Formats: sequence, structure tokens, C-alpha cells
Amino acid sequence: MGLFMSLNRLTNLMGRTVLVVGGGGREHALTIGLLESPSVSEVHVAPGNAGTAEIATNHAVSAGDVDAQVALARSLNADLVVVGPEAPLVAGLSDSLRAIGIPSFGPHSAGAMLEGSKDFAKQVMLDLGIPTAGVQHLTSATDLDEAVDLWGAPWVVKRDVLAGGKGVVVTEDRDEALEFIQNSIDTDGMVLLEEFLSGEEASMLVMMDESGYVALPCSQDHKRVSEGDMGLNTGGMGAYAPAPVATESVRARAISEIVKPMHAHLSSQEIPYRGCLYVGLMIDDGAPSVVEYNVRFGDPETQVTVPLISSDLCELLLAVAEGRLADSMPTFSNNHALTVVLAAEGYPGPPVKGRPISGDLSNHDDSDGQAFIHHAGTGTINNELVSTGGRVLAATGIAASLSEARELAYQKLSEVQLEGAHFRRDIGHRAL
Ligand code: AMP
Ligand code: GLY
Repeated sequence: MGLFMSLNRLTNLMGRTVLVVGGGGREHALTIGLLESPSVSEVHVAPGNAGTAEIATNHAVSAGDVDAQVALARSLNADLVVVGPEAPLVAGLSDSLRAIGIPSFGPHSAGAMLEGSKDFAKQVMLDLGIPTAGVQHLTSATDLDEAVDLWGAPWVVKRDVLAGGKGVVVTEDRDEALEFIQNSIDTDGMVLLEEFLSGEEASMLVMMDESGYVALPCSQDHKRVSEGDMGLNTGGMGAYAPAPVATESVRARAISEIVKPMHAHLSSQEIPYRGCLYVGLMIDDGAPSVVEYNVRFGDPETQVTVPLISSDLCELLLAVAEGRLADSMPTFSNNHALTVVLAAEGYPGPPVKGRPISGDLSNHDDSDGQAFIHHAGTGTINNELVSTGGRVLAATGIAASLSEARELAYQKLSEVQLEGAHFRRDIGHRAL
């Protein structure tokens, strides 16, 4: 037996140590998935939430503190770090981890610019001929009346900053568009005005490294706070997968027109992209185009996508982090998943925090399917479960059909109480 074989066997015997960076529902879903892997012995989460504390070890380290995350990974002797949010990726967490030999799932800082700068992402798409909305760069030198009249209403205005989904305004109101444009130019020096794309949105999460890529089942988020897709934008109020709007033919077009050229481009860079590329699609009459890229798993898309991976999650993430995805392609179940977010009073404005959460948060698992709670903004005070954020938790159902998954998720959510909380009753409405 060669040295490599015996080392490999030793790692398997002792089990792998994985560090998950972040503390939302996405990270809880990743932690659950990783713990199902026979090769994993320990999962650590930083900072985590009350849900990850129950099944893994939390560390009070902020996701955005790159130096502290690197020190933690080193002290744990982590075999793999899985980075949830974009900010530490943009700030170079994967670069620092790779420099000390720790495999990191998530792109290096140059790759993370695809999310860090909408202007940069747009330029890459235009250079590669990837279908996306046209764009105008507006500055103090631009004739704004002429700019807003070029395509007319509705106006899509995007600040070129990481704003947690709050830097975009889509409006039919010319004055509101002009005001947001002017304010953004005043604070940032420039702003992007995009052509409006009509159609239905879907999220395609693509795992990629220089050896290959694989698109996970497409999902659909619900970004507006209220039923019927009304009201303010949020981080996402619920999701389901697979999303039927992404038909086989839409997926095939998205792969050939969007994913393939992007993968070829990213793989030709000096440091290749290793992580999840989130492709936000607009699908109009069967034709997909790109609304945005994110350089990480979506939240809440992950909560309905990771449970559909039937092969070993740790093997998959580690393979991507080490650039050998082509040899470790995942398999998927035929199940459907749906998740409903329970948001705190006030969300998406400043949320009321610190309220007790009560009810039956236990898992349901029988022949109809599974239902469980993904924690997000939760913590404990004196052993009592309390809300700590805007999106507090989500109830997720997994079953053989989407309607059964929905029933399980809403049933589970009805068993949980949080004063002042709100949720959408129509998650999955476009598919059902
Ligand atoms: P973004 O942060 O770029 O994903 O934009 C947030 C949301 O604004 C998207 O999920 C869409 O619902 C909407 N949006 C962004 N760009 C466009 C566009 N060009 N046309 C129509 N809607 C858009
Ligand atoms: N759910 C949208 C996102 O993760 O960006």
C-alpha cells in the first residue's frame, strides 16, 4: 500500500473535520447535509445559530472576520472549509485558506468579484456573449433624462456595491428611479441602469472547478415580502425545487449559452473558480438570460437543493475545493422540497429581536416525507430559544411531490410560535 493510500485511509478512519462559515438557514442546511456524510466526524460552524449548536459545534467568530476564520480553521486542523456568505469570499478568505493548504469551498477573491461588482460581472457577460440585460453607466456627467428615456419604464437601477440585495430598485415611477439614481451617484460616484427583463425567475446553482461543472436542480425563490409577489424586496421568503419553469429545454439552453462559456472563462484564469456559481435566471418564453451572479449558495435556495443531493455532500464539496469535481459527480433524488421562511416583526425593515420561540421544532420523518426546521436568526438566552435576526427560521418539507412537500412545510410551520412573526402562505404558487 502506497503512502498516499494509507494516509487516505487514516483520514477516513479518523473522520474529517469541516468548518462551515456563516450563521443562516443556508449554513444550517449545509451542516445537516455534511453530517450525513460517513466520512465526516466533526462539523464546526462560525458563528452558527441555535440550530447548528444542536448538531455541531458553534464558534463565536464573525463570518466576515477573515483573519479569525483562518485562525479557527488552522486550530481545528480543518480538512475542508465551506464558506456560506459572499463577504468573506470577496475579502479573500479562500485565498488565505489555500495559502496555508486548507481546501476551501468558495472562489478566491478575484472570482468573487462576479458578485462583488455588478459592473464587473456585466462586462464579463458582455465579453463572452452571455444573454443578459443591456446596461448604461450613469455618472454626474450623464444626461439623466435622456438615459431614463432610452428604454422607458420599468426602470432597473443597481448600485455597484455589496448591499445584501438592497442596492437594487425596480420601479415604474420615473421620479423614484431618478431620485435613487441621483442619490447613488452622490454616494458611489456611479450607478447602473439596466434594461428591464420580463419573464419568470429561477435560480440555478452550479458547482464548478477547473475539472468540470454540474448544475443542481433549479429552484425558485420568493423575494418579495408579501403574497402575490407584492411589497418590499427581502433576502428571500421561501423557495422550492425542482422549479418546473426550468424545463429540460430551458436547462439545456442555460447550460450551453450561460454555464459552458462562463466555466471555460473561469477555468482559463490563473486561479480557477472553485465553488458554487449561483446563476439568477430570467426565463422568457423558454429563453434564459442572466439577472445576476452570486458566488455562493443561495439562501433559502440551499435549503431546498442540498436535500435533493443523494450522494455524499462532503465528498462533493471537498472534490470542488480540490479541483477534482469531474471524478466526483453527484447524484440526485426524485424528491421535491419546499421551504417557508418565518420572518420577525418589522422585517425586511429593522426586525424585532430577542423574542421567545416556542412550539414543536422537532423533525417529522415518516412515509409521507420529512419536515424539519432550518434555523437562521436564532440563538439561546438562559437556555431559552429566541429570535436574533430578520429571517428567523424556515420550515422545510421534502416529499415525493411538490404539493406534499408544501403541506408538510406549512404543517410544521403551524407548530411554531413567535410573537409578531409573518410568513407567506403562497410559497410554490407558480408551480402549483
Ligand atoms: P439583483 O440583486 O441583481 O439580483 O436584483 C434583485 C432583483 O431585482 C432580481 O431578483 C429581480 O427580481 C430584479 N431585477 C434585477 N435586474 C432585473 C432586470 N434587468 N429586469 C427585471 N428585473 C430585474
Ligand atoms: N435568495 C437569494 C440569494 O441568496 O441571493
